Amino acid sequence: LDNGLVRTPPMGWLAWERFRCNTDCKNDPENCISERLFRTMADLVVSEGYAAVGYEYINVDDCWLDKERGANGQLQPDYSRFPNGMRALSDYVHRLGLKFGIYEDYGNYTCAGYPGILGSLELDAQTFASWNVDYVKLDGCYSHPKDMDRGYPEFGYFLNKTGRQMVYSCSWPVYQIYAGIAPNFSSIIEHCNLWRNFDDIQDSWASVESVIDYYGDNQDAIIPNAGPGHWNDPDMLIIGNFGLSYEQSKTQMAIWAIIAAPLLMSVDLRTIRPEFKAILQNKGVIAVDQDPLGIQGRRIYKKSGIEIWSRPITPLQQNYFSYAVAFLNRRTDGTPSDVAVTLQELGLAYPGGYAVEDLFEEVSYGVLSPETKIKVKVNPSGVVILRANIHLPRFQSQNQ
Ligand code: DGJ
Repeated sequence: LDNGLVRTPPMGWLAWERFRCNTDCKNDPENCISERLFRTMADLVVSEGYAAVGYEYINVDDCWLDKERGANGQLQPDYSRFPNGMRALSDYVHRLGLKFGIYEDYGNYTCAGYPGILGSLELDAQTFASWNVDYVKLDGCYSHPKDMDRGYPEFGYFLNKTGRQMVYSCSWPVYQIYAGIAPNFSSIIEHCNLWRNFDDIQDSWASVESVIDYYGDNQDAIIPNAGPGHWNDPDMLIIGNFGLSYEQSKTQMAIWAIIAAPLLMSVDLRTIRPEFKAILQNKGVIAVDQDPLGIQGRRIYKKSGIEIWSRPITPLQQNYFSYAVAFLNRRTDGTPSDVAVTLQELGLAYPGGYAVEDLFEEVSYGVLSPETKIKVKVNPSGVVILRANIHLPRFQSQNQ
């Protein structure tokens, strides 16, 4: 969607994967979906340094609503959990210098059974605008997937009509794919800033692997759809929760960066361990994700449990790109695997060579010619991610 927003993939925090539909504020006041939870997470995004590296959106997901609309037909939060209402929460988030996202569903109900927008599209778009919402995720439960080709653009039209700029996150293709309908991606690209095309992520390595496989196996079809303002969304980062090891967490971060994914953390920022926080805040990997060219990367090698993924990035020189390259070890035989390959074999052919660095280890390999063989050790279910910048003579790099 060409609305000037998310020219690089959105970054932020989203409640769903970690906090789900916990509405029991009586017995679990610190973890229930409530004003308190979102304020706390917004505070931590700033105080713990996430905002400083680019995380910006604080996004509400399902289960914020009251089961009934208000007297005037407007959506309303469950006031027992959001006592000051959504405008006050939005104001709070904005005062911290962050942006505020909300969730709804193009159907009669949200997936968890709260009121959907069907029948009230214009009113609901206006309500979101009046709350100064910056980002809307529109889910697709309790609707007919064939109606989405009309319905998602229609809601987008009403969002636009409010005059307030809002990122529009769509679940349109995933519901159609599961219903056996081939999504009309040219329309999806035109009307949505990002969209889901695969299963919900769960707190496990198996789930992360299934997403990685989907993105690799379907890359020729889905890569052309991504670009500035319109992104494939492989779902949330689950780093820092219960299901991923340290190595697996680095793998999720690296592959999400290679595939130009939205970086939406879903984790308890009060209790996250420092090593996971460091992964989420790795500036080098974030810079790959946020590369201004917005080209989604691809799997270029897959054999005997070893995969290599690569993404063209800046700086450019003549017809040559710089690259981020991730080596992934899917083997489980318990010992690191060596991978040795020349830059040329990876498609890095710029005659002037590349300045190569390891983004997690923060070590530099210096400037390497395309014929140089690089050797990396990749831990089981782990990753090595390199950045190879075109090597520019000094006078040229100063004029870039
Ligand atoms: C399905 C979506 O794909 C999830 O991300 C989440 O929003 C749930 N619905 C909420 O019910």
